[in-house]
Amino acid sequence: MNIQVHAPRLMLVGGGAVGQVGELLGRLGLSRPLVVTDPFMLSSGLLRHCLDPLEAAGIAAGVFSDTVPEPTDVVVEAGVRALQAGRYDCLIGFGGGSPIDTAKAMAILAAGGGRMADYKVPASADHAALPVIAIPTTAGTGTEATRFTVITDTARDEKMLIAGLAALPLAAIVDYRLTFTVPPRTTADTGVDSLTHALEAFVSRRANPFSDALARSAMALIGRHLRPAYAEPRNEAAREGMMLGATQAGMAFCNSSVALVHGMSRPIGAHFHVPHGLSNAMLLPAVTRFSLNDALPRYAEAARLVGCAAPGDADQLAGAKLAEGLEALNRDLAVPTPAAFGIDPVAWNAKKALMADQALASGSPANNPRVPAHEEIVRLYDAVWSG
Ligand SMILES: NC(=O)c1ccc[n+]([C@@H]2O[C@H](COP(=O)([O-])OP(=O)(O)OC[C@H]3O[C@@H](n4cnc5c(N)ncnc54)[C@H](O)[C@@H]3O)[C@@H](O)[C@H]2O)c1
Ligand SMILES: [Fe+2]
Repeated sequence: MNIQVHAPRLMLVGGGAVGQVGELLGRLGLSRPLVVTDPFMLSSGLLRHCLDPLEAAGIAAGVFSDTVPEPTDVVVEAGVRALQAGRYDCLIGFGGGSPIDTAKAMAILAAGGGRMADYKVPASADHAALPVIAIPTTAGTGTEATRFTVITDTARDEKMLIAGLAALPLAAIVDYRLTFTVPPRTTADTGVDSLTHALEAFVSRRANPFSDALARSAMALIGRHLRPAYAEPRNEAAREGMMLGATQAGMAFCNSSVALVHGMSRPIGAHFHVPHGLSNAMLLPAVTRFSLNDALPRYAEAARLVGCAAPGDADQLAGAKLAEGLEALNRDLAVPTPAAFGIDPVAWNAKKALMADQALASGSPANNPRVPAHEEIVRLYDAVWSG
């Protein structure tokens, strides 16, 4: 089997690593960064973790802090204008997946021109772009290590998947100490996003020995550390384990793929503004049950790795325990159903056929062990509505 492996050129991993951001730029021959972040990172002072070491290294950075959760083409275009107004030689994405994905999309659009929609899959955004250095503060999307960015087309309410070498950061700083301040709700949502990345990479039709190793490690780390990180925000071991697991899960799906959960999750996010990890969590148990028997040995191994099943459990039992374990995880992390989240039932029913169209069009369901028909996706949207 021939495998293509994508990863950033350099990653600094560990507590306090963000303090080396100035030296990192120096090693890469860069000196004029535009830092892309969100308003909370700026107002809370968390951005100082990035700006202080840059200043100490004598680097004057610009700041674009207008990113929004689940970034849009409109915000990316505003970011490109800010980028073109200065003489920058790189972008630093600092924050959760939203600012980092915005920085990636700005680099792509600034270099290639046109509209964001021109770059969505099946197009491949491989053209040279300004280098992006990614510094995640959630654990997390794994976007610091992936060749993807997800941008909402505001006119069409569609979350577009954009893939290619131009979306792969040149370097990343993975510093778990930046996540101590993440509130429990976001810890849960981003943690389930990571778990979904690892599990989907592992059961995907595009799984391979390289992605498998990363997915296995990520599932074990996340299975062990997600609940403690949710319950005790300053639990150092839990935060460190989650950050490592999130980045490994990102590398796993970047070199394999995501599958049906992500395919169905993006339309929920686009139409109903549900945070990405939360819409994954709403779907994960039901989609796992739907897919289980088409990759039973893989799901069973996943169950043992995340700690839902005992090492000696036979595959059928371990698989069943995985679905139950994911339901229990949702209860422990207080994950609401779409109904309990407050989505309008009339709008949900009116949109579900379109959401199934958009899920299929993204290509992700085709990587699932059980490839669903349109009406099966609609039935899954029905099944998760109120649990
Ligand atoms: N490109 C990829 O490979 C990839 C993979 C998965 C998800 N995504 C995308 O990532 C986005 C979601 O990213 P996210 O889940 O990290 O959420 P986010 O970036 O939207 O952040 C969520 C909230 O957490 C806050 N926050 C972030 N770091 C914090 C910290 N250290 N302390 C306190 N608060 C903090 C933010 O200000 C924000 O309010 C979505 O747009 C999703 O589509 C991309
Ligand atoms: Fe995700």
